[in-house]
Amino acid sequence: MANTILVGAQWGDEGKGKIIDVLTESADVVVRTQGGNNAGHTVFLGPKKYVLHLIPSGILRKGKRCIIGNGVVIDPLGLVAEIEGLRKQGVKCAGQMFVSETAHIVMPYHRELDAQREVLKGKNKIGTTKRGIGPCYGDKAARVGLRMIDLINPARFEEKLAARIKENNATLKSLGAKPLSFKQVLKDYRAAGDYLKPFVANTVVMLHEAMQRGEDMLFEGAQGTFLDIDHGTYPFVTSSNTTAGGASTGSGVAPNRMDRVVGVLKAYTTRVGEGPLPTENAEISDLLHGMGREFGATTGRARRCGWFDSIATRHATMVNGIDDLAVTNVDGLDTVATIKVCIGYRHGKKRYDYFPSDAQVLAECEPIYAEFEGWQTPTDKCKTWKQLPAKCRTYLKAIAELTGAKLSIVSVGPAREQTMFL
Ligand code: IMP
Repeated sequence: MANTILVGAQWGDEGKGKIIDVLTESADVVVRTQGGNNAGHTVFLGPKKYVLHLIPSGILRKGKRCIIGNGVVIDPLGLVAEIEGLRKQGVKCAGQMFVSETAHIVMPYHRELDAQREVLKGKNKIGTTKRGIGPCYGDKAARVGLRMIDLINPARFEEKLAARIKENNATLKSLGAKPLSFKQVLKDYRAAGDYLKPFVANTVVMLHEAMQRGEDMLFEGAQGTFLDIDHGTYPFVTSSNTTAGGASTGSGVAPNRMDRVVGVLKAYTTRVGEGPLPTENAEISDLLHGMGREFGATTGRARRCGWFDSIATRHATMVNGIDDLAVTNVDGLDTVATIKVCIGYRHGKKRYDYFPSDAQVLAECEPIYAEFEGWQTPTDKCKTWKQLPAKCRTYLKAIAELTGAKLSIVSVGPAREQTMFL
């Protein structure tokens, strides 16, 4: 399998959790490189459902090493809860999962500021997950962040925390929010630091040692291309590089050590939170929500739904260097009579055949659609490409061709067995 980067080719929630789980079978090490517990990767193993937020899904397979890289922002209390939750489900993390000592940590003031800033933005709010992700990455860039290496050093942590609480309490007060208790935060974080200390490691060296042993690595992306801080629909984005480049900076494994990029996309489009989504429409939203599908794994929010947008996915192929495509949720379209695919945008008199950089222009764009006949047959029991209805194969081949990468994986349901390799 060599070193593979897996990215979301749309707005997140593409079904990456399941594809990562399937690909993990042939990997030795699974690495998270960006984002935090704003992510929610769902994996079904038989009747059991696992939702992972920070811990790579490789943890569900015995003997796979899981690394949370330096580019991830870690809510220590959240991570402790996740480890404990897995322990209760019979999954052990000790000795199998490691956290970078230079990963930044999410503090309670980050969460509070995230919420307060959303209120201040009013109707221009981003619709964040309120996990403190943006303020934490903000502190990292401003060089005032606290890292795992600080958390596990009690004297250093106390000193740095005192300074950070003082400054952030002043900001919180100015926003009319309640200041935080230094004593309480110290107590909670010290306990989490003690718990997490055995997991903290120099993961850059670990990953390079694994490479020297010839081990294969899977870099699991969180969120999706159009939530990328540079390439997404700014400012309606998350605060990390969700695109393939983030896998290198967020792990310390250089770009020339990467072998393959897999882009995961749904057979249609979804988005959670605010921001432009050109193909959004009520017909497909109502259909999918009516089927009990498309509710967020982290926040439970109903996702906004739209037709497949090939202008967006072609852009994703470009910025990520996608070699292979994994198309998920094909079964979501099983009942649709006529399926639309966006093949261009109209903005006033101008036609766009590429993704506009300006989120406002994108919001004003009207999609230009091609239409495909629906297959109107259940696909969830199909085990091979040949078993898929002919109209479904035509549709999948068309969206892969428009996206500009090789169709390699098709998923027709949440279970491992509902996956076909082409
Ligand atoms: P934040 O990452 O919580 O700051 O949220 C910024 C934007 O990214 C919001 O629109 C969120 O809904 C979206 N977002 C963050 N994480 C995910 C995810 O894992 N899946 C889908 N959308 C996400």
